[in-house]
Amino acid sequence: MVFKTIIEPFRIKSVERIRMTTEAERNQYLHDAHYNPFLLKSNQVVIDLLTDSGTSAMSSEQWAGIMRGDESYAGASSWQRMESAIQDLTGYPYILPTHQGRAAEHLLYTKIGGVGKVFISNTHFDTTRANIEYSGATAIDCPCPEGKYPEISHPFKGNIDTTTLLSLIEKYGAGNIAAVILTVTNNSGGGQPVSMANARDVHTICKKHTILFILDSCRIAENAYFIKHREAGFEGKTYREIAQEMYSLADGCVFSAKKDAFANMGGFLALNNLDLAVQCRTVLIITEGYSTYGGLSGRDMEAIAIGLEEIFDADYLHYRIKSTQYLADKLHKMGVPIMMPSGGHAVYIDAKAFYPQIPPHEYPGQALVCGLYKVGGIRCCEIGSVMFGKYDANGKLIPAAMELVRLAIPRRVYTQSHIDYVAETFEGLIETKEQVHGLRIVHEPPFLRHFTAHFEPVTLSSGVA
Ligand code: F0G
Repeated sequence: MVFKTIIEPFRIKSVERIRMTTEAERNQYLHDAHYNPFLLKSNQVVIDLLTDSGTSAMSSEQWAGIMRGDESYAGASSWQRMESAIQDLTGYPYILPTHQGRAAEHLLYTKIGGVGKVFISNTHFDTTRANIEYSGATAIDCPCPEGKYPEISHPFKGNIDTTTLLSLIEKYGAGNIAAVILTVTNNSGGGQPVSMANARDVHTICKKHTILFILDSCRIAENAYFIKHREAGFEGKTYREIAQEMYSLADGCVFSAKKDAFANMGGFLALNNLDLAVQCRTVLIITEGYSTYGGLSGRDMEAIAIGLEEIFDADYLHYRIKSTQYLADKLHKMGVPIMMPSGGHAVYIDAKAFYPQIPPHEYPGQALVCGLYKVGGIRCCEIGSVMFGKYDANGKLIPAAMELVRLAIPRRVYTQSHIDYVAETFEGLIETKEQVHGLRIVHEPPFLRHFTAHFEPVTLSSGVA
């Protein structure tokens, strides 16, 4: 018999209580958090879909590994296990452990970045862009045309636009391009996958122009699932083989182990080039820790080594992608405008289409984020003009290309009934959607403003509620 029901391919051994709250309580909490869910306390949240990063449930094998963690300062056995797990997977010889992905980004992008340098990516993630811009360099997003339209269905909407990439290389000069970064899956572009064909094209272009090709690969196992099921020629390959092939096309990678390694903390930079690795390692030792632990405990390194094996389990990946799709399909059937097709780790709502009455400078995505919290206690994250908006010389907002809201699904954490509850919350939101107003920012820092900005609700008639 072929089953229609895809079950969670794990049993639950240890549970965490969810504190239930009322809508009235949540209204108060949201007000106190300045309408920014990043400022909420976790016990004020019913279902936490803020991120899939560091929020995975670890397996009993990982917990067992944690007890084995070797906390020696230098040359710990846990480091050796982590290092060889990464070398086996990526094929890169030089591995630099870091406390999380952005530390790996910082090591590499401050080394190769700086004023006058340009980075080109399918879409830079927010910390990637911030690290690059902080170094004085410029970060240019170059997603494929299909990737810019949430409603268009395409198997590889995460691809980089190679035509634009070539014209940018010509415009800035290959010598000024610090790196081309392919983010797999493309998190800020809707969690959409990148095809092997696209990675091969980037490889060829970078080789021809002698430009460094870096994979931001923290969801490479999820990306491999899409390649196996959507790209001709990969049906017979394992997910791991597909990931290995993609790594073989690049010169190195940054990796946040908080995603596709089921770890609560960790990351690494892996490189082919010894010279570059030596330069980055010097900064690693100054800022993160000695080269055989970076910012990590031995127990973290054990969890990462084991997680990197588990993530390629075919039953897990099937459940993972199908369960994300389950939520996407439900919302789609209800008429909620979502990024099509659904991504690997998250469902992205097109907030511009959900709240057409709210202009970009009143942040429709943030309004939806607040609505989901008020009605269902669901915490999620805006990926639109709050995260990526910039101001022109007159202080006018230059909006982001899309106004998305991301429902990120932590790995192995929530069951189907939690997801059904999320969908039901949308039923409540749909009923009142015409009456919803936007928000305005009343306080913001210069970098990564979405984490700490304060908002106030706006009413159409009077300005501020
Ligand atoms: N690159 C991508 C594509 C990411 O999604 C993230 C983190 C990072 C780099 C940085 O890794 O958090 O370990 O420092 N993404 C999280 C998210 C925060 O919610 O999507 P980190």
